[in-house]
Amino acid sequence: MRLDRFLSGQTALSRKELTAEIRRGAVTVNGAAVRRPEAAVDPQKDAVTLHGAPVVYSEFHWFLLHKPAGVITASRDPKQKTVLDLLQPQDRLPKLFACGRLDLDTSGLLLITDDGVQSHKMLSPKHHVAKYYLVQLSEPFKREYIDLFRSGILLREGEREEPCLPAECEAVSERLAVLELHEGKYHQVKRMFAAAGNHVEKLMRFQVGGLQLPPNLPAGSYLNIFNKDVEKLFEKSCISDACAFCVQNYSSYWIKDWN
Ligand code: URA
Repeated sequence: MRLDRFLSGQTALSRKELTAEIRRGAVTVNGAAVRRPEAAVDPQKDAVTLHGAPVVYSEFHWFLLHKPAGVITASRDPKQKTVLDLLQPQDRLPKLFACGRLDLDTSGLLLITDDGVQSHKMLSPKHHVAKYYLVQLSEPFKREYIDLFRSGILLREGEREEPCLPAECEAVSERLAVLELHEGKYHQVKRMFAAAGNHVEKLMRFQVGGLQLPPNLPAGSYLNIFNKDVEKLFEKSCISDACAFCVQNYSSYWIKDWN
């Protein structure tokens, strides 16, 4: 692989900036400065540094973000702050995008990646990757929601009504519930509770597949995650375990908010 191509996939600098850095000797390969952008490197074997810092090769990159409410899920926006703006400049790699979407007022686990194949797999209903949400309702939770959601509640899609895939839910307290979805229709959680006669006041996603939002990761912060964690997305999960995690780590903060 060419040295400039190797670097452009691993740093936030443009190809032009990288060419300039290489030419002025800021890049070393196996300890020696290499000033030719077209020089060949083996990503698996060669040790590359830029400004003295090692550049570790990874074909794809994944960031686990604790999205705060008030930030939009978009790559760029002329007026509003986007989830990509929350990344440090050195992490703003060229091909990153948000894997799925959380509404402006929704917080929680959002993945940012440049891995199109795995992100498609995570989002496609065919692969049944569960997404878990903590929901604060304006009216008390009713037991009838459990069967209603399990049987595939109908949502209006233009002229027609279409059923959602079966979804599980559990009450956490009088007005807090956990919902497990296997698809991602537009405003789905809010529309499902609206169709059931309730209203979502506050929404947070705390788990995708077996990957949980780390409780010590503040809103607006993120982690670089690697294979072991990415694989957790495709691990089996269930609502009772997700609910226990949520109750232990998140729901109490929301209950405190009410007081
Ligand atoms: N469902 C919603 O209604 N909003 C989100 O942000 C995610 C799921």
